[in-house]
Amino acid sequence: MQLSVVILAAGQGKRMNSDLPKVLQPLAGEPLLQHVISAARALNPSNIYVVYGHGGAQVQAALREEPVEWVLQAEQLGTGHAVMQAMCLIPDEHTVLVLYGDVPLISGASLVKLTAAADAGALAILSVNLDEAHGYGRIVRNADGQVAAIVEHRDATPTQLQICEVNSGLMAAPAGRLREWLLGLGRNNTQREYFLTDVVAGAAQAGVRIEAVPAANALEVAGVNDKIQLAQVEAGFRRQRAGELMLAGATLADPTRIDIRGDIQVGRDVFIDINAVLIGQVHLAAGVKVGPNCVIANSRIGEGTEIFANCVLDHAVVAQNCRVGPFARLRPGTVMHREVHIGNFVEVKNTEIGAGSKANHLTYLGDSQVGKDVNVGAGSITCNYDGANKWPTFIGDGAFIGSGTMMVAPVRIGAGATTGAGSTIASSTPDNKLTFERSQQITKDAWTRPRKFGEKEKAEIIAKKIPTQKD
Ligand code: UD1
Ligand code: CA
Repeated sequence: MQLSVVILAAGQGKRMNSDLPKVLQPLAGEPLLQHVISAARALNPSNIYVVYGHGGAQVQAALREEPVEWVLQAEQLGTGHAVMQAMCLIPDEHTVLVLYGDVPLISGASLVKLTAAADAGALAILSVNLDEAHGYGRIVRNADGQVAAIVEHRDATPTQLQICEVNSGLMAAPAGRLREWLLGLGRNNTQREYFLTDVVAGAAQAGVRIEAVPAANALEVAGVNDKIQLAQVEAGFRRQRAGELMLAGATLADPTRIDIRGDIQVGRDVFIDINAVLIGQVHLAAGVKVGPNCVIANSRIGEGTEIFANCVLDHAVVAQNCRVGPFARLRPGTVMHREVHIGNFVEVKNTEIGAGSKANHLTYLGDSQVGKDVNVGAGSITCNYDGANKWPTFIGDGAFIGSGTMMVAPVRIGAGATTGAGSTIASSTPDNKLTFERSQQITKDAWTRPRKFGEKEKAEIIAKKIPTQKD
């Protein structure tokens, strides 16, 4: 059966108290609606219709890359009315799956069950068992266990209020039938809205089988209506992803103190200390250790490499058995071959570093190509920017860069070359030789340390050295 998915995203989300439309509020770094669209796409439907209204232009702009069709609901008259806006685009013989833009963690497995039941002619509603079901519509079943009705909380009898199986609001149905039931909806409720949930009564009247498909857990049907629920869903998502990492073989110092905002792959025996933030595509090979408070975005880390505390990595490729940090920053275009050491307060950008090389203290390497077994002494930097252009620096294999060397790019340091500490190297240096640039060292015999001056004396000295400007 062909599948059409309708995602409801027109609501304002008043309870968010935000200028950002509710469906664009970020969950794990992506808009809520993005999560729902991704779940829909995984089903390979013929079409995905997103019903939009509030903040329409902003919502469309944020998700312009997505292969969806936008359907305007000019006036928000309820979830049933919203689905109706898309129905004129959907042929009768399709199965329709209705998702909510504010229910972001819906699982593929549940959606497959829902659509399968609808393919077989039923109205399939996603139910969930809640210990605390206050406010939800209860699912009432007959003696055969078939769904007989959905009774809203305020209309339920004391016995019905004991029912823990409640309606999530998500559903799937044959398009032709759904259209009939939607046309029969009224707005006989306190909110004067067309409720999608009321199609259940229409189906029951028509004698159509209603199948309640149980959700795997409450998290996948959790709706986000305010910032508290947003934080709860974020925490649930984090817990879920942390669980996946642990099952894949990672040891987490504390699964509640890791933020996973993307697609993270881990090998066996990875160890991740507290407060790691992992963003985008991150690959941590077997045996990688990540120290506390590291941010790793879109990077690959090779086997056995250790990232010490407080490092920030962005679009970096680090090979096996390297050491990074503490307090190192690897910016985009960093490529480290095996056994490279990058130490504290070292920044690397758009730079490839050969195997076994070290830059352990207070260094900046930008737009450079560093050979194998190079030692970059403390405080050495590449001066890659002249105020208008970026220039490259090349450092040959086995070079020894003395502490505090300024390498004024474009420049090449020869293989096996040494630079003297404190040198400003503005011209390329030959292989295997010592090059330094240093003014003469002077010792003054007749010098004494300054004594403490009085305020008046100080003023006189300043006036003499810095004459006031005459205008
Ligand atoms: C809805 C369900 C409720 C279910 C809950 C689960 C109805 C009547 N109620 O309630 O049974 O337990 O979700 O999360 O369906 N929207 C539109 N156009 C509209 C109104 C809403 O596109 O005119 C969209 C909203 O943007 C939102 C979604 O539909 O993404 C749900 O609307 P919301 O107002 O949040 O419904 P709930 O009160 O949460
Ligand atoms: Ca909602």
